[in-house]
Parts: sequence; structure tokens; C-alpha cells
Amino acid sequence: MTGRTVNVAIVGGGLMGREIAAAIQRWPALVDHPVRPRLTAVCDVNPAAFAWFEQIDTVTTTVTDYRDLLADDSIDVLYIAVRHDLHEQLYVDTIRAGKSLLAEKPFGIDRAAADAILAALAEHPESFVRCSSEMPFFPGAQAAIAHVASGALGRLIEVRSAFLHSSDLDLDKPINWKRQARFCGEAGVMNDLGLHAWHVPLRLGWTPARLTSVLQDLVPFRPGADGRPERCDTWENATVNSWFDQDDIEVPLRVETKRIAPGQKNTWEFEAIGLDGGVRYSTARPKTVEVFGVISPAGIGAEQSWQRIQVGSQSVWPTVTGGIFESGFSDAILQMWAAFLAEREGALGDRFACATPEEAAATHRIYEAALAAHASGRTELVEPVGVRTA
Ligand SMILES: NC(=O)c1ccc[n+]([C@@H]2O[C@H](COP(=O)([O-])OP(=O)(O)OC[C@H]3O[C@@H](n4cnc5c(N)ncnc54)[C@H](O)[C@@H]3O)[C@@H](O)[C@H]2O)c1
Repeated sequence: MTGRTVNVAIVGGGLMGREIAAAIQRWPALVDHPVRPRLTAVCDVNPAAFAWFEQIDTVTTTVTDYRDLLADDSIDVLYIAVRHDLHEQLYVDTIRAGKSLLAEKPFGIDRAAADAILAALAEHPESFVRCSSEMPFFPGAQAAIAHVASGALGRLIEVRSAFLHSSDLDLDKPINWKRQARFCGEAGVMNDLGLHAWHVPLRLGWTPARLTSVLQDLVPFRPGADGRPERCDTWENATVNSWFDQDDIEVPLRVETKRIAPGQKNTWEFEAIGLDGGVRYSTARPKTVEVFGVISPAGIGAEQSWQRIQVGSQSVWPTVTGGIFESGFSDAILQMWAAFLAEREGALGDRFACATPEEAAATHRIYEAALAAHASGRTELVEPVGVRTA
């Protein structure tokens, strides 16, 4: 392997901390990447989390206080995957320490937290910060984005973007921090899944100016640690109907984030339809991208047609994986990291990049408007996004 060595530390050795550690071990799959990351340190308040990381030889430091990592000059990049109520403090401290940061979504528990993180970044531009959102790195998603960017759709008719789960259909599933507003945030499922569904629309410039919303608290109680019901006070499902401008014409953009979408395991979907063409993609059928157009089959003549294309393994950064092979969640995570570290190195070029702090902060403005719209029953304006409010 070639490339400059970058030392990475993980804060929060839970579900995502382990996923990222595993992805970094697959780095040799990338072809000619300018950076070679080494996972050297792990922080978790629960020392039991360290046991899993013992199998990774490069990990030489384990700490229970993240500030020990900030004081460690050998560490270049932190990946922080902890509860949402902890984001602001940990991200701000990391930025002030001048470290690079791949932050987990939702980038602070609410808009005020996101703005505080942006303000720290404005004071410390030397800190390179991006926010985690890996689903657009599926090859099929990249194909859909490229098709839209080509202009093939013409004037847009409508757009839909969604992220759908359904493990919460099990009403006996015990409560955890993600189902409690004081840890997850008032925006509930939007905090959990929203950036996944908003990353691509925002990147394509489809920033909503106004919206309505439907929020559902479908499961008000869940079993606590002792089996007794505890208040589960987060929104399970959120549907945001918004509008953005394309050449001064409003285009409807529907964004669904659902923890209870029966039958869906972890499905990211994107569909954009225009007068000249259309494209749709769902990770439920990860190899298949559908494009719309008018075709002229021999003997039939011009007809409207959705056509299916199979995509292979290649996404943003080339890999040794055979072009015809399949891609999955772990590959998307690896691609997101490839994009993050290449962009930090100034070597990403015009390839698709990770969600920016401004995009992540924009989602909080959208969630704020969605909460207000649900409460008022009216259409609410979304504050302009991409603005750094110090
Ligand atoms: N990108 C994705 O696809 C994706 C998927 C799931 C979760 N997430 C996000 O990742 C973050 C973490 O979620 P998770 O599912 O990994 O959670 P988790 O509960 O599985 O893990 C969190 C870990 O953080 C540790 N922790 C708590 N406080 C800490 C502190 N002060 N310092 C260090 N460690 C601390 C906990 O002990 C636990 O091991 C959240 O922001 C969540 O929204 C992202």
C-alpha cells in the first residue's frame, strides 16, 4: 500500500464504531488512494467495548475520556459515534483541538447544537469536518445522481427520497437512547435517518423553501431494562412534503424517514421524475437502477418505458473488486471514508463528497420547520440554509 499515513481514533466503540474499524481494515481494496489510515486509538466510556478492538493490531491506545485523544499529537482524525445529546460538546472540543472529524449524524441534537458546531468550525478552519452519510455511495445511487446531473430529466415534475426501517414494528423491542427525546432529540426519526435522505437532494441543489409535515408517534411506550413500560417519546415516522425552486418553478420534494415501514429493513430510496426522463433506485434491489425514457422498439414504435440497468461494484473511488461484482453497506462505508480522506488531502476532485457541515446544519433547519408545521398544521418556511450563524 502507498499513501500518506493518517492516524485515526474512534470515539464510541458501539455499532458504528466497530463498522468503521472494520472498513478501515479493508483499505487495501482501494486503488491508488492518497492516504493510508491506521486505526490507532479507541475511546469508550464503557471499557467492555475495548475487547472487540483487541483483534485490530494497530490499536495501541484505549481511553475512557475522549479529551485524552485530543491531547495526543499522534492522532490526526477522529470518528465520533455517540449519542446525539453528546455531539455538540465532543465535536466542538475536537474542532477546537484542531483535529479532523468525521462526525456522525445528526450533527448535534438540534439546530442550536449544529450552529454551535458551525461556529467552532468558523473559528478553526484548520479542522476538516464532514458528516457521515454513506448510502449515496452505493454504486446504484451514484448512477442515479450522475443521471440527474447529466440534465437528462429536463424540467422536474417531482422528487422523492426516503430512508425506511422496520425493526420497530416489534413492540417488545426494549427502549434504548435512540427512542428517547432527551438523548435522540425532539426531531426523533428525522435526527436518526434524515441526513441519509436529505444528503442527495441538498447536494443536487434542491434546497426546500417551504414544507408541510406528518409526524407519527406510533409507539408511545417500550419495555425498559426491568421490563416495565417506559415512555418512548420520539417520532417514529416523518413525512416531509416540501418544495424547491428549479428555474423559478416550484418542484415538490417528498422526504420520508420511517422507523416503522413494514417490510423494510434498511432501505434508502431515491426517485426523480422530469418531463424528459426519470430515474429511481432502491437499496432493496441494490444492483438495479431504473431509468425512464421514450424508446422505439422495432415493430412497436415510440413508447414510454422504465428500463432496468444492473450496476456493478464501482462507486466514487476505484477498487480492486471486479467491476461486475455486487456492492453492499460495508462497501458504501469504505467509499465514504475514501471520499472523506481524499477530500481532506485535496485529492477528491469532482467526485461525490461526504455531507458538509453546512448540509448537516441545513437538515436541522428542515427538521425545525417540520416540527413547526406538524404543530401548526400549516406550511412553514425553511430558513435559508448554508448560512454560517456564529
Ligand atoms: N451512518 C449510519 O448509518 C449510522 C447508523 C447507526 C447509527 N449512526 C449514528 O452513530 C452514532 C452512534 O450510534 P451507534 O448506533 O453506534 O450507538 P451505540 O449505542 O451502538 O454506540 C455508542 C457507543 O458510545 C459509547 N459512549 C457513550 N458516551 C460516550 C462518551 N462520552 N465517550 C465515548 N464513548 C461514549 C457507548 O458506550 C457506546 O459504546 C449516532 O449519532 C447515530 O445516529 C449512524
